[in-house]
Amino acid sequence: MTLYRPPAPWPSGPLRSLLRVVLRGERNLLSLLPLPAYRMRIGRLGWSRRGIVMVNDPALVSEVLRDPQQMYPKNDLMVDALQALVGDSMFVCSGANWQRQRAMIEPAFALMRIDRVFDGMAQAVDEQVARLELAACDGTLLSLDAMLSRLTADIVCRAIFSVPLASATAYRVFEDFLVFERSCANVDIGRMIFARPWTATSQTAAVQSACQRIRAQIGCLLDQHQQTRAQQPASAAVPPDLAQMLVEARDPASGQGFTREELIDQLGVFFLAGHETTASALTWAFFVLAMQPALASRLRAEVAAQRLLTGGVLDPAALRQLSFTRNVFREALRLYPPITFLPRVALRDGQLGPCRIRRGNMIMIAPWTLHRHADFWDNPDCFDPDRFVSGLDRAHAAGAYIPFGQGPRVCVGAAFASLEATLILARLGECFSFTVQAPERVRPAARLTTRPEQEILISVGLLERAAAGPSVRPESLRWSQMKAS
Ligand code: HEM
Repeated sequence: MTLYRPPAPWPSGPLRSLLRVVLRGERNLLSLLPLPAYRMRIGRLGWSRRGIVMVNDPALVSEVLRDPQQMYPKNDLMVDALQALVGDSMFVCSGANWQRQRAMIEPAFALMRIDRVFDGMAQAVDEQVARLELAACDGTLLSLDAMLSRLTADIVCRAIFSVPLASATAYRVFEDFLVFERSCANVDIGRMIFARPWTATSQTAAVQSACQRIRAQIGCLLDQHQQTRAQQPASAAVPPDLAQMLVEARDPASGQGFTREELIDQLGVFFLAGHETTASALTWAFFVLAMQPALASRLRAEVAAQRLLTGGVLDPAALRQLSFTRNVFREALRLYPPITFLPRVALRDGQLGPCRIRRGNMIMIAPWTLHRHADFWDNPDCFDPDRFVSGLDRAHAAGAYIPFGQGPRVCVGAAFASLEATLILARLGECFSFTVQAPERVRPAARLTTRPEQEILISVGLLERAAAGPSVRPESLRWSQMKAS
């Protein structure tokens, strides 16, 4: 069987890449990665004032991400890109401040009751199915990426605040996130190449004002949330959502809770990290399924068989049995890791494997290149969900698959995202077929997450009514904005 190679840039030489930045103002870091970046285990990459060390060796990746000597905090370029939005929150800070925040937040995720979160997820997906039924009937062209961003934003909004995205304030937060996402890259390429490390810069006025609006609106959502909870009778015993868990989180050492500003920082991270990432991976998964109908049929058959076993129910236990569906998600995370790069900066001179490290060097850990490295993967550029079936394929080298990061800073939302993605793939996959317009023009770009350079337009075909699930009508007409622009 010939495996499918989904879109990816063809790497060029280092000099050509540099010229494309200087002459053409290229902003997509993915299309600039030169061939050696995909082949080396560790080495210096191209020319840059700060010095970029690319690390693709699983043992050295682990050394950097575990960072026992506190030598490699988050890179200043990435911190600067996000700070206007998420302040000094857990995602960007390092050292003692990060340790305190992680110790306060981790228990909230550990205690999060999956059945409670799942109800919100399932409801949001049912509403999406109803919207897509309408789109299928009237032949509307949709933007695949925008549709999935709205759906995952709806899900995370319900998990955090117990309100759907349809609430006016929540929807405004989402719209401003779009402004932020479109104008902001994880790593500013010009600064990466030409600026010294730790050179302070600020975001554009448009991004700064979008961030201020987002923070103000998150503050409103938090206040409304607290008022609603205060009005509930003590006997109601409403289980806590993520916002409430953050409000109640205490520093194990001092007993102090988060200040209001810190709460807004953390809620901003949950909103951003909690929907952009999952939407990114799902966009690529649905794109591949649309291009490979045989994979889509296998997925549908698996879901139908599972429904037969469970009397039509698709609850978390049933979803856990959908191994092919989950492997489609895993493979999308491998080929299109939502967080394309995990850049760090060296605080001191030192040694990393064979490489001498200088203070200020950018240490580039790239799930993108690690996941496509021929030393660790068979047919590295091809989409093959079965590579994750144990025993079927050469097992990938331990530590060569890091879509959720690794070590103490590993993603806190991995279990949440995996459940959500399996549910969305199963439900939309069983009900609809998608046809991509001009698939030859689809190219990945490294923005805040790994996204298509231009929106992917799709038409929707109805395979079967969502008879097994409840039929819910769309709550908000504003969602008609998911139509292609
Ligand atoms: C497919 C979905 C997701 C992917 C691929 C993903 C990926 C990642 C990665 C790679 C990191 C580590 C970053 C680094 O070391 O530089 C991370 C951290 C984080 N993620 Fe996720 N994430 C996903 C979903 C979520 C969700 C749903 C949430 C919350 C609801 C979330 C919240 C966070 C937070 C708070 C951190 C910071 C952890 C720390 O620094 O201690 N993520 N994520």
